[in-house]
Amino acid sequence: MAGKFSFQLDATDGAARAGVIETPRGQIRTPAFMPVGTAATVKAMMPESVAQTGADILLGNTYHLMLRPGAERIDRLGGLHRFMNWDRPILTDSGGFQVMSLAGLRKLTEQGVTFKSHIDGSSHELTPERSMEIQRLLGSDIVMCFDECPALPADRDRIAASMRLSMRWAQRSRDAFGDRPGHALFGIQQGGLERELREESAEALTRIGFDGYAVGGLAVGEGQEAMFGCLDHAPAMLPVDRPRYLMGVGKPDDIVGAVERGIDMMDCVLPSRSGRTGQVFTRHGVLNIKNARHQDDPRPLDEACACPACRNYSRAYLHHVFRSQEIISSMLLTWHNLHYYQDIMAGMRDAIAAGSFAQWRAAFDAGRAQGDI
Ligand code: GUN
Ligand code: ZN
Repeated sequence: MAGKFSFQLDATDGAARAGVIETPRGQIRTPAFMPVGTAATVKAMMPESVAQTGADILLGNTYHLMLRPGAERIDRLGGLHRFMNWDRPILTDSGGFQVMSLAGLRKLTEQGVTFKSHIDGSSHELTPERSMEIQRLLGSDIVMCFDECPALPADRDRIAASMRLSMRWAQRSRDAFGDRPGHALFGIQQGGLERELREESAEALTRIGFDGYAVGGLAVGEGQEAMFGCLDHAPAMLPVDRPRYLMGVGKPDDIVGAVERGIDMMDCVLPSRSGRTGQVFTRHGVLNIKNARHQDDPRPLDEACACPACRNYSRAYLHHVFRSQEIISSMLLTWHNLHYYQDIMAGMRDAIAAGSFAQWRAAFDAGRAQGDI
């Protein structure tokens, strides 16, 4: 597809940034939250509904799609956008992280990783070169480097060796990706919670040169305080004129804290997955729709929310359909959670542009401190 990929920074407020990523498939307003569409669907949502929540971009997964239905098949069918009926930008993760968390029997070498499918036990290999090829076949707009992410806690030598392997793979990813106008390749910083390793990783990536930079290797069990400790310095190590993407984060307060520290993009399964397990995020905190105290409650989930679940249905109804395991329960709760996440992003973008991020943040905290919801 013709056209250019670019990032424009429009406003800053403290470390927080607001801007726009231009792609041939449309604009991505930042800070951006990307709903996760792992298997070519955001579970329980029609793509047009996902767009109505305010999402500009989705995330897809190399690992899942290569196993089922297969990257070559998706290519033959016209690419992932056409296959899943989503014509806006798609970012794809590169597969290494999912291999480590999902696949059976893994073997990691300098060349790449061999593993057995979690679906049928079949053997597969992923290398930086094959990951770039799969993401090209999918038609991904933002391609992620093939990396390795160690589980925390891990000792420093293990984290350093893993990070340096990821940096060699970043160079191989860059070489294999080539020159593809309108498509972007993002590098992924690793280094655990070690500041010097994060510096070394940022320098290696910046030397190679990418269209954007991700902070990887966080939200892997270290806790919010440690993650924020890392984010107090990690984003600033990355080029100021490129988007910064924090991978796999998080809860609403994680997202706000990350934007406050200079992050432009995030993704997480939490709002969609929680929609299927009855966990609801609101301005006033988290509620579980399964709880019996909702069974006679005529109020919406969140009186300030404009989503269809909140405009048209009571907590009592949502409690009933959840308890009855009706499909509409997953649909409405996922819609609400994704809509709420996008409301947070829009609120932060407006506040950063207006120079009032601190006031917005205080109101966000005050809403959640109200207690019983
Ligand atoms: N998703 C969450 N964290 C990571 C990471 O460190 N690397 C990749 N590729 N994906 C992730
Ligand atoms: Zn709602």
